[in-house]
Amino acid sequence: MVAHPDDALSVGEVSRRTGVAASALHYYESLGLISSHRSPGNQRRYARHMVRRISLILVAKRLGIPLADVRDAFEPLPHDRRPTAHDWRRVSTRWKRTLEERRSQIERLEKELNGCIGCGCLSMKACRLLNPEDALADRGPGPQRL
Ligand code: FES
Repeated sequence: MVAHPDDALSVGEVSRRTGVAASALHYYESLGLISSHRSPGNQRRYARHMVRRISLILVAKRLGIPLADVRDAFEPLPHDRRPTAHDWRRVSTRWKRTLEERRSQIERLEKELNGCIGCGCLSMKACRLLNPEDALADRGPGPQRL
């Protein structure tokens, strides 16, 4: 594979290196997860450091982390230069915080689910899984789900 004069990668090259379809690359770009610039021939080009971002997006997908969370984690990363070790550490710190929040949320849900499996009442008033924080009460009196 021959690098382009500006040392950037074409869509096809990034796609081959990462295994991500060109359409997905465009989608990630539309979400602000990655960015590109235009060649003199008006073709999309990606800086080489975008490959690392894409790899992390793939890892996040495997872990079930929503792309919105990935975008939040990538927020401190610069698009116009190769991120430094310090930049990546900031991403790592955010990512860790997100994973810890998700872990606590799952642990809370697991406890509630264990209670519901033993209970089975399906009460809209009492069951925190079916009606968290009695959210259905905001819709007014009477049955809200039939
Ligand atoms: S099913 Fe009874 S509390 Fe959830």
